[in-house]
Amino acid sequence: MIASEFKKRRELLMEQVGKDNIAIIASADIRTRNRDVDYPFRQDSDFYYLTGFNEANALAVFIPEREQGEYILFCQEFDEKKALWEGAHAGLEGATQEFGADDSFPIDDLADILPGLLENKHKVFYPMGRDPDLDHHLMEWITHIRAQTRSGVNAPGELVSLEHTLHEMRLIKSPEEIKLIQKAVDVSVKAHIRAMQTCKAGRYEYQLEGEIVHEFIDNGLRAVAYPSIVAGGKNACVLHYTENKARLNDGDLLLIDAGAECDHYAADITRTFPVSGVFSTEQKLLYQLVLDAQYAAIAEVKPNTPWNNAHDASVETLTRGLVELGLLSGEVSKLIADEAYKVFYMHRIGHWLGMDVHDVGDYKIDDEWRILEPGMVLTVEPGLYIPPDCSTVEEKWRGIGIRIEDDILVTDKGSQVLTQAAPKTIGDIEAIMQ
Ligand code: GLY
Ligand code: MN
Ligand code: MN
Repeated sequence: MIASEFKKRRELLMEQVGKDNIAIIASADIRTRNRDVDYPFRQDSDFYYLTGFNEANALAVFIPEREQGEYILFCQEFDEKKALWEGAHAGLEGATQEFGADDSFPIDDLADILPGLLENKHKVFYPMGRDPDLDHHLMEWITHIRAQTRSGVNAPGELVSLEHTLHEMRLIKSPEEIKLIQKAVDVSVKAHIRAMQTCKAGRYEYQLEGEIVHEFIDNGLRAVAYPSIVAGGKNACVLHYTENKARLNDGDLLLIDAGAECDHYAADITRTFPVSGVFSTEQKLLYQLVLDAQYAAIAEVKPNTPWNNAHDASVETLTRGLVELGLLSGEVSKLIADEAYKVFYMHRIGHWLGMDVHDVGDYKIDDEWRILEPGMVLTVEPGLYIPPDCSTVEEKWRGIGIRIEDDILVTDKGSQVLTQAAPKTIGDIEAIMQ
């Protein structure tokens, strides 16, 4: 991501925070996995969105119209020994010169400096409740300032959630952000195609996970956006299956939900295909139904359309189809009203996509479904999961799990399927698996 983009975001945030107020946001922490081993570091999305700064032990402060500089970054000082053991870090100089901070201070001096910055501010914008340490210190500092009011300083009177302001910004993606999502998508599409082409009976789910991750890393994307789901046969009916350890059997479908992360932006793709390369009759019927539901839902992804229309379209198509195939019986409208489809389709149509795979942004405003706008990116991922022990359907349907998931950008005129290069028609899948 280019530096000017981060600057633009900070300026926009500064406008929303307003003069005489202050915004504070902390970096992610390094988390221990087990003795002396840490989890791979992943920066907090909100913090990265505003700073582009990819280190732990940092905190950004924004003070609109502060004469000595509006953007202050607290971070670790440069340390030769740390550089030797752990590698490059920006230090105070890097914070200003490379990352555009107006001023930088050692994070170890936070408790000495930040209280002064809070003096005489009216509102403090910060992510409330996210970091118990920060919550605690902030209260302490504010209480401390309050105790000094007789000497003429005023303590902030209002704490405001920073998330609302920031997440509204993050919900609408800039062309630069869409480029990064597209890059994550392009690599993920290659990985899904690789999985289709290397799948055969007798291999194991984890081997296909290996093919996927190999493709991600081979293309320079070392992080998955979320743990890959590689679910053969009835494992696909477990929505968050990540065990990925079963053998793949001829005659089963394989559901893969996997996406790479590119510079903090996620792809989120699901494809379902036959282990053998050829769909059986029942698989074909259910698969085509999910695909039809997906097309119906995608048709509802366009500006000036409520978010939920896509979900309703998928419910309508799936319920009608389940009646036609004999998995549900009754009147379609009544089955929808009674939510009878939920036995087979128990999740919603999708979610916002961005720096977080389930990205930020409200879905409802004043209790009404949000109206889609150009620049929003969302997934459309209907599915059918016929429980293996479902006694109300013929045995031939049981244990089939199917989801088809694409990433969609809302455009001025309609929508763009960012993931369209991943095969999903029955013909295209069977052809690529030959
Ligand atoms: N991969 C997570 C999801 O599809 O929501
Ligand atoms: Mn998803
Ligand atoms: Mn997914």
